Amino acid sequence: MYDITLIPGDGIGPEVIDSAKQVIEATEIDMNWDIVNAGADVYAKKGILVPDEVFKSIERNKMVLKGPITTPIGCGFRSINVLLRKKYDLFANIRPVKKIKGIETPFKNIDLVIFRENTEGLYSGIEVKEQEDEARAIKVITKKASLRIIKEAFEYAQKNNKEKVAVVHKANIMKLADGLFLDCAREVAKSYPHIELQEVIVDNMCMQLVMNPSKYEVIVTTNLYGDILSDLCAGLVGGLGLVPGANIGRDMAIFEAVHGSAPDIAGKNIANPTAVILSGAMMLNYLGENKRSKLIVDAVERTIEEGKYVTVDLGGTASTTEMTKAIIQNLVD
Ligand code: NAI
Ligand code: MG
Repeated sequence: MYDITLIPGDGIGPEVIDSAKQVIEATEIDMNWDIVNAGADVYAKKGILVPDEVFKSIERNKMVLKGPITTPIGCGFRSINVLLRKKYDLFANIRPVKKIKGIETPFKNIDLVIFRENTEGLYSGIEVKEQEDEARAIKVITKKASLRIIKEAFEYAQKNNKEKVAVVHKANIMKLADGLFLDCAREVAKSYPHIELQEVIVDNMCMQLVMNPSKYEVIVTTNLYGDILSDLCAGLVGGLGLVPGANIGRDMAIFEAVHGSAPDIAGKNIANPTAVILSGAMMLNYLGENKRSKLIVDAVERTIEEGKYVTVDLGGTASTTEMTKAIIQNLVD
C-alpha cells in the first residue's frame, strides 16, 4: 500500500488528475490517495494559497502527484511550484521527451531527457525594485546545486547507456554565473570518460533542437533555460499535452506534467490527460512498480497509435474522459 498526496490543482488540473488516478487504479495497485488542494481556486475560497494540510500531507507521504497550479502574474505571491521545489529541495526536474508512435512529427527519432536545475538560477526569487523605473532579478548559481544536478544527468546517462550529455549555458555572456555551471559540467564529465560532454550555448541549442533533435540524448541546464527548452521540446513531439515530469529530491518527489493549468481549455473536458498519466507512470517507476508503469505507458501509446480516441490537440475529437476510458480499456485488455 502506498500513501500518495494527490493535488488536483487549477484549471484543467482536476480533470487530468482524475484521469491519472483512474488509470493508475486500473493497474490494481493498492493506493491510498491523500487528496489535498492548493492554488488559485483554494485561494478564492479560503484566502490562502497553500493550506497547512498540504504541507503536512507532503511531509508525511513524501510522494506527490500534482496537477498544475495557476500563478497570477504581477501580484504579490510567488509561484507555488517554485516554492514547493525550493522548500523541499527537489533539485532535479526531470523531463523525458520522446516521440510517440502515431503522432506526426517532422523527425523520426526524438528520445531525450532534460535535467533542469530546480532550486536556484533566475528563479531564486531574489528580485529588487528600489526605484519605480528599475527592477533587478538576481541569478544565483552555486557549485553545490550545479554539481548535484549535473551528476544526476551523468548518472542517468551511464545507467541508460547514453553516449553524450549536453550542458546548455550562456557562459560567453554570463561569464561568472553560467561560467561556474559550465566549469562544474567539465569537472563532473572527467569522472565519466565514456560519455561525451556536448557544450551548447542556449540560443544555438534552440536552433539545433528544431533542426536536428536526434543529436541529443541528455540535456542538463539551469532553471530558466530548462523551463524554456522543455516547452520547446514538447512542441517537437506533439505538444504540452504529452510531456511528463518529475521533481526529485533526496527523499521526496513530486510528479507533474510540464504543462500549466491551461485556462483557455479548462472545464471543457477536452484537455489531453497523457502528460499527467505519464507523470503517474514515472511515479510508479520511482516506487519500483516497473511492470505497472510499463502497462500504463504501453496503454497510452496504443491508444494514441490507434488514433480513435485522442483529444483535440492531437487532431482527434475525443473528450478527456473518452480518451481516459480508451487508455484503461487498452490497459486491461
Ligand atoms: P499552459 O501550459 O497552461 O498552456 C499553454 C498552451 O498549451 C495552451 O494553449 C493550452 O491550452 C495548451 N495545453 C496545455 N496543456 C494541455 C493539455 N493537457 N491538453 C491540451 N492542451 C494543453 O501554459 P500557460 O497558459 O502559459 O500557463 C497557464 C497557467 O499555468 C499560468 O498561471 C502558469 O503560471 C501556470 N503553470 C503552472 C505550471 C505548474 O503548475 N507546474 C507549469 C506551467 C504553467
Ligand atoms: Mg514551464
